[in-house]
Amino acid sequence: MGGMRSKLTTLRWRNGILYLLDQRSLPLRKKFVRCRTYADVAKAIKEMTVRGAPAIGVAAAYGLALAAKSSRRYGKAKQLEVVRKAARVLASTRPTAVNLFWGIERVMKKIEEAAGGNESLYKVALNEANKMFNEDIEANRRLGRYGASLLPERCIVMTYCNAGALATVGYGTALGVIRAAVEDKKRVTVLVPETRPKLQGSRLTAYELEVEGIDYRVITDNMAAFVMSKGMVDYVIVGADRVLARTGHAINKIGTLNLAVLAKHFNIPFYVAAPLSSFDFKSDVEEVVIEERSEEEVLSVNGRPISPKNARALNPAFDITPPELITAVITEFGIYSPKELISLSERQ
Ligand code: MRU
Repeated sequence: MGGMRSKLTTLRWRNGILYLLDQRSLPLRKKFVRCRTYADVAKAIKEMTVRGAPAIGVAAAYGLALAAKSSRRYGKAKQLEVVRKAARVLASTRPTAVNLFWGIERVMKKIEEAAGGNESLYKVALNEANKMFNEDIEANRRLGRYGASLLPERCIVMTYCNAGALATVGYGTALGVIRAAVEDKKRVTVLVPETRPKLQGSRLTAYELEVEGIDYRVITDNMAAFVMSKGMVDYVIVGADRVLARTGHAINKIGTLNLAVLAKHFNIPFYVAAPLSSFDFKSDVEEVVIEERSEEEVLSVNGRPISPKNARALNPAFDITPPELITAVITEFGIYSPKELISLSERQ
């Protein structure tokens, strides 16, 4: 496909090793972490070396390939046991983004199907992971084209967290829409809330926009209402860790709901950009587990305490935006109102 390629590599498979761009050290340092075993991948997901829903889904798929590779010398039955255990470990790393479970299920289905035959389980797993890798970029490009059609020649878009190339295999979802609009020569300025406590906005989204030469301003999270009230925001476009197709709820980084409520108040269109790999066609909203991360993330910045020694904190990592606050969901199959999402189940 033509068009501007993202200059960022989130994950790369070379000679039987998964390399992950270490997102913890961005934007100050660009280094890769080598994963030689599925346990390395599980650790990287848990510690957010790799993060963002589509990126962790594909990383977990390669994790299963690594498990199949390391157990090649055993008989099929033992190898299957190792890979099933890897699937359980990888699935326990983070609970909210549905892509993780989608990625694991997809590879496990292929492995279980191949278990009775002569094909190498390693090859089967690796093929599926490679397929998911390519499909992710392709889906984001298509989604980006649909989203760009919504934007005028000149506009200011507020995004949230990081839903760019770094949160996916490449190109990005919410940032993919912005990339596609810029490819069309539209003049887009991006407002980037920092996204406390992990600062994915100021560390990762700002970094991506800088690398791509797209105009942006970082704001602290608590500036959103004021800049909206001043007419400085034309659209809000965010990604999603899970979209509930049955009800139209979108689960995304904590703070997304704040922006959705504000956008409604100020009459600003609020779009969720998400590929089908982030869709959950089964669950109801009460069934979704919202990840609780460590108190320390809230009580410190860059490892330095910013609160009294005995301070306690809450740290839910995601929130749930209800369908009535969402103007539309941008997917690789087109733009849907939250109530129409279930019709996408036939595309799965
Ligand atoms: O906790 P993270 O950084 O993995 O959360 C990521 C987000 O919330 C992203 O905005 C979301 O995954 C969309 S990714 C295209």
